[in-house]
Amino acid sequence: MRIVALVSGSGSNLQAVIDAVEAGELDIEIAAVGADRHGTYGIERSAAAGIDTFVVNFRDYADRHEWDDALRDQVATYEPDIVLSSGFMRIVDERFIKKFEGRYINTHPALLPSFPGAHGVRDALAYGVKVTGATVMVADAGVDTGPILAQAPVQVLADDTEATLHERIKVEERRLLIDTLAKLGT
Ligand code: GRF
Repeated sequence: MRIVALVSGSGSNLQAVIDAVEAGELDIEIAAVGADRHGTYGIERSAAAGIDTFVVNFRDYADRHEWDDALRDQVATYEPDIVLSSGFMRIVDERFIKKFEGRYINTHPALLPSFPGAHGVRDALAYGVKVTGATVMVADAGVDTGPILAQAPVQVLADDTEATLHERIKVEERRLLIDTLAKLGT
């Protein structure tokens, strides 16, 4: 199974996938890692692991659909079975989704459908829930609205900050992500 991963940030979840592949625990090929901007650590660490990288810089495009099309075409050149949004902080349009229908996988640091959007950890903490968690889903053109593939709960502790809670959620996200990729690859 060939995957292309998309990152916007540090790519620590992606690193867990890279490590699992390198350790022989996950039988997939990471064909390439792409980003929507220059200077991400996700791209840096992927290049360090010897993976092909590319940037389709959002700011280089006048119109977001032009960017979407350029991203879709770049991803498609790798002929991936799965496209993984790994901390990719942009919503892609219908044309991108259609091209990779049912094969665009995302993770979210909350128990969807609760707390969708860019601040799932902060919003859960602010609401005062006692349990939140991690979700892996098939992405569609909405904001965290696609079919759910796997979820894991995480307890919210009394002294949690957004950072401490997010770190514990990411432990579950990484586990779920690797499990899900393994299942999709069989
Ligand atoms: C993850 O919690 C992901 O669900 C969210 O951003 C975080 C990505 O972290 N969208 P990293 O870039 O893998 O460290």
